[in-house]
Order: sequence, then C-alpha cells, then structure tokens
Amino acid sequence: MKQYILALDQGTTSSRAVLFDRDGRLCGSVQQEFPQHFPQPGWVEHDPIDIWNSQLACARRVLQDTGVAAAQVAGIGIANQRETTVLWDRATGLAVAPAIVWQDRRTADACERLRAQGHAGLIGHITGLELDAYFSATKLAWLLDNVPGARRRAERGELAFGTVDSYLVFKLTGRHVTDVGNASRTMLFNIHDLCWDASLLALFDIPPAVLPQVVSSAEVVGFCDLAWFGQPIPVAGIAGDQQAATFGQACHRPGMVKNTYGTGCFMLMNAGVRPVASRNRLLATVGWRIGGASADRTDYLLEGSVFMGGATVQWLRDGLGIIERSADVEALAQSVPDNGGVFLVPAFAGLGAPHWDPYARGTLVGMTRGSGRGHIARAALEAIAYQSAEVLQAMQKDAACPVLEVRADGGAARNDLLMQFQADLLGVPVVRPTVTETTALGAAWLAGLALGFWQSREEIAAQWQAERQFDPAISADRREDLLATWARAVERSRGWALP
Ligand code: G3P
Repeated sequence: MKQYILALDQGTTSSRAVLFDRDGRLCGSVQQEFPQHFPQPGWVEHDPIDIWNSQLACARRVLQDTGVAAAQVAGIGIANQRETTVLWDRATGLAVAPAIVWQDRRTADACERLRAQGHAGLIGHITGLELDAYFSATKLAWLLDNVPGARRRAERGELAFGTVDSYLVFKLTGRHVTDVGNASRTMLFNIHDLCWDASLLALFDIPPAVLPQVVSSAEVVGFCDLAWFGQPIPVAGIAGDQQAATFGQACHRPGMVKNTYGTGCFMLMNAGVRPVASRNRLLATVGWRIGGASADRTDYLLEGSVFMGGATVQWLRDGLGIIERSADVEALAQSVPDNGGVFLVPAFAGLGAPHWDPYARGTLVGMTRGSGRGHIARAALEAIAYQSAEVLQAMQKDAACPVLEVRADGGAARNDLLMQFQADLLGVPVVRPTVTETTALGAAWLAGLALGFWQSREEIAAQWQAERQFDPAISADRREDLLATWARAVERSRGWALP
C-alpha cells in the first residue's frame, strides 16, 4: 500500500492540505479561505474555530479527492502562520477570544512603553527579535488583561496559550506543545538556551501555566483522535510557515537563502547552528531542530520580513482598481518599457526590515504628466523587489559566508518580470524550484524525517529541483543607481504618521 505524508499549511488567509509521496511529488492539494476580521483600525482577528474547521475540511477533502485512505498516511506535518496568538480553555478546547493575528497593531503602544523603559536591548539579546507588536508576547498579555477572568483562569492552569501550530496539535491530538521555531517567535523564548525565559515571562506578566511544552520540529508529538480521520495518524512535524519554506527549499547550509513572495515577503537565510546577532536590524530566529529533545543540532536563521509584498498588487486591484485580477499586473507593467521615474514605497502598514518604522506610510514619487497606470503597476512590482533587495543587503552584511543565490517561492514568484528584476537588483541568481509549494513540502519533509519515511537531509535535498534560474542582467553601476534612487524614495515615506 503506497504511503504518503499529509502536510497541513495553515496560512494567514487560507488553510491548505497537501499530499506528498516518497519521491517528494505533490499528489493532491486542497485550499480553503476563511474569514478575516478587522474590528477596529489596525486590528486583525481570526476565529480559531474557522482556522480549525477549514484546516480539517481541507485535510479530509484532499484524501477524498485523491482516493488515499487515512491508513496510507504515514504522518502529518504542520506549517502555520506564525506569531498569531490563541488562548483556549484546556477542558473544552474552545478559544476564549478571537485569535490576534500577527498583523494586528493593537499592542504597538505597549511596545513603545517597553522601549521607553529601556527593555529593547535585553529582549533583542534573549529572543533575537525586534521589540514590536508583530510578535506574540504583547498580544497574549493583551488577552490576559482584556478577556474577563482570563488572567485568573490562566494562573489556575485552566487556559492554554499557543500559536496556530499549538492550537492545531491540541485539536488533533489533545497535546499542548509547540516547536522550537514557533516558540522563538513569541518573544518569550530564550533562543540560546532553547527554553521559556523567566525574566521575559515576568516582564510581560505571563503566568507560566499557560505555556505549551516546547518540542522539536521533527518528532512524533502525538496521534490524531480517531474522530478526525478514523486512524491514529501521528503528528510528526511542526514548523512556522517561513521556517518550513526554508526547509522545503533545502536551505541546509549556512548562507543559503529563500524568499517567499506572499502577502508579505519573507527572506530567510540559514545562519548555522548558533544564533547570529544581526547588526542590521534583521531577526535572529530558530529554524528547526530534528529529532527529540536529545537532538544535538538546531539550525538558526536570519530573517527579514517585508510587510507589503503581493499585498501591493492586491492594492492595485482592490484599492486603485487599475487591474481586474492580480495576474494582470505583469501585462500592465510590461506595457511600458520602464517605470518612467515613478517609485512606489508601499509602507501602508509602516516598514518592516531593515527599517522597522511603524510611522512610515505609502508614498508615490517621481510622477510627471507622462505617468500612467503602466508606470504605477511597474513601480508596484518593482517595490516588491526593492524591499527584498534591501533585506538581502542587510543579510550579506551580517552573514559570515557569501550568498550565492536566492531560492524563490510563493504566488508572485510565478511572475517572470518580477523574478528577472529581482535578480538584477540582487546581483545574484534567483532560482525557482519545480515544487513551489515549499511550505507544505518543508512540513512534510520534517514529519517524514521523524518517521523514517525519509532517511536523511541528503535524501530530501536531492529531491529539490530548479525549474528556472534568473541571472542578473544589469551592471553593478546601474544596480547601485537604482538602489540609491529607491533609498531616496524610502526616505520620503519615513516618519510620515508620527504623532
Ligand atoms: O510571520 C507571519 C507569517 O508566518 C505569515 O505567513 O504566508 O501566512 O502570510 P503567511
């Protein structure tokens, strides 16, 4: 009986379930969107039950569609939207409040206060993170302070906190765990000692009783309740989606980089087996640990997140209305020979790495009477590449070894114009793999390694194949000119919304 690994890829706007066979071939995939809630400006929430129901429905559906029996599923690997914070009742499994999504800015003031009190340095040293509302700690504190009775119940051990991986594993198996990589995004985790940090728990006023047990990214953590698939399928892999994609791009050696072009862009580099403190405002974060707690190797990453990637194209579609479908952007951008001097800095939600400016705002500069829709579309597409190039420049300064190529994935990686411009700006080749579902593949590989479905990293790395390589096609001088002009445009967007 042929065996498969089932990957659950629980993203910010949709849940997916993807089946892989032993050759790493994608054998079926199902996706379902779920509702997003914006109850106040700057707030973003999910109903955890929507997350669970859509994820379970996708998993059941992909088995049904492919005719694969649950008994043929050797194991499940989970990849998840990171940082999003869920607080639920241990007895019922029901969330006590909507999940606060990573994009939610309601705790920006709390972060500002902590910064003013001088805590940013220590937090950065312990967690590898910037003091920012992006991460879970202030979101969890907000829930404990604002959901009636939550703090008291949490102290009594009645409530469980987790990121989405943790919530899904709890629903699937009843176990309350999270992997080292997801833990490293909470801002409560010591990335040097790989444990919850008592001083941070005290600083954020988090009762230890709410925390999940920290496990490896590849180990059997529990078995699915028979209610879900009729079989006790082991859950054997857990990774935040960007960590999973880095693993799925087979970035096993220091200096290997992937960039995912999704709603935002997430560029991550393998930094080796020790955390590398960034001097250029990138995040040091845990990638994955393979094998149980006794495993002696943990891979660390450097990460730069760009908040507006593909979302910039969505804005062209939904905000400006100059394209009907996102895919139309390539043709519109190609209707002009170049950007005509127009630059768009899509700082609609502030700027992420390497600027970390919550007060920056979207800026369109260089317009003349000759500027048209085509130029704006081109500037929007180019902005995605410029922002990623700034992150890579920061990475190259932090890295001990040279970056030889960037492996691309995510929806916008299908856009050839963007990929070529990206290679031009980076000055290194951009490589697109045959399996672009790298997030799901990474989660599957982690689970498969834990189960002996695959034997080694070498075996899985051999399954990774390039579909197309984009080589830089402009001179170094031209690249420098372009990046300098972009830097001027960014300067104009900075600090715009300062109170
Ligand atoms: O850190 C947030 C990231 O994990 C979200 O990824 O693909 O769900 O937008 P995605």
